[in-house]
Amino acid sequence: MSSKQRVVSGMRPTGKLHLGHYYGALKNWGSLQDTYECFYFVADWHALTTEYAHPQIIKESIHDMVIDWLALGIQIPKSTIFIQSSLPEHAELYLLLSMITPLSWLERNPTYKEQEQELKDKDIHTHGFLGYPVLQAADILIYKAHKVPVGIDQVPHLELTREIGRRFNFLYREIFPLPDALLTETPKILGIDGRKMSKSYNNALFLSDPPEIIKEKVSQMFTDPNRKRKTDPGNPDICNVYTLHKLYSHPDDVAIINRDCRVAEIGCVECKKKLTPYLVEFLAPIQERREYYARHREAIDEILAEGNKRAQGIARQNLKEAREAMGI
Ligand code: TRP
Ligand code: SF4
Repeated sequence: MSSKQRVVSGMRPTGKLHLGHYYGALKNWGSLQDTYECFYFVADWHALTTEYAHPQIIKESIHDMVIDWLALGIQIPKSTIFIQSSLPEHAELYLLLSMITPLSWLERNPTYKEQEQELKDKDIHTHGFLGYPVLQAADILIYKAHKVPVGIDQVPHLELTREIGRRFNFLYREIFPLPDALLTETPKILGIDGRKMSKSYNNALFLSDPPEIIKEKVSQMFTDPNRKRKTDPGNPDICNVYTLHKLYSHPDDVAIINRDCRVAEIGCVECKKKLTPYLVEFLAPIQERREYYARHREAIDEILAEGNKRAQGIARQNLKEAREAMGI
């Protein structure tokens, strides 16, 4: 048996992955693989809580998302990759946990309130959406995970997982370790329009974008909002283009831009022109690996079948323990 601590995390399949996903989660997922026993899954039931009216996007995204994970360095068998909906064990634990979760905990969940505001075009006043964090708790507790790598926005959900686990342990028997969040140190990558990068805002740089598209998107990017004319001095510290330069460009170039921008020696058009090739170079090997897997879809099916089986072995055992503790 592995003596490593266990990591579990999931991602909703709601479309192609972009740089925000990479820095918000996947970079971290990859870096944990040597230290922890990692389980990463496609949270398709969680996607269903908001996409239930048009679920096609979920099915279409699953393979693509797993391809992106592999292209970004998630390695088998260091990590186990699987699909949430292939494991009914998650649903059963979710049901059991729902019995002990006070409604007030769910209603005061800040993510719930926020999403209610944001997703105005969708009716998410459903039992499923309110129960989102309970399902997430089941996903995590069923593996007796120690650590959960997530972005800062998921911290309230993880706090709820701990509260639900604590309540279970208190009511029945000490079964579940209480997992900690492993927060991703993320550079704040914004979308083309300066808002949070998101597919639904149509402002994302996708990992699969070809060079021409990258060039075009970079040219449209918002920069320092106070710099109206080329002759105005700029402030790179509040410029998203500069954030990307820091990530991808040669340090000498970064230093020059930092200096020249502040004294209006370089214009934004030129600055963006310098960025594009670096970004394209960063994406090239990722896209190559992506294409390889896109041509070998059967390999993906195999990886998922194997992962589902491995995850299920553990999930079954822990679910059985939970049932017995509850006497059901
Ligand atoms: N709610 C998470 C998100 O939107 C996805 C998720 C579902 C998850 N189940 C999980 C993350 C379990 C970590 C652990 O990003
Ligand atoms: Fe941003 Fe570059 Fe323009 Fe300065 S010159 S505001 S860093 S895009």
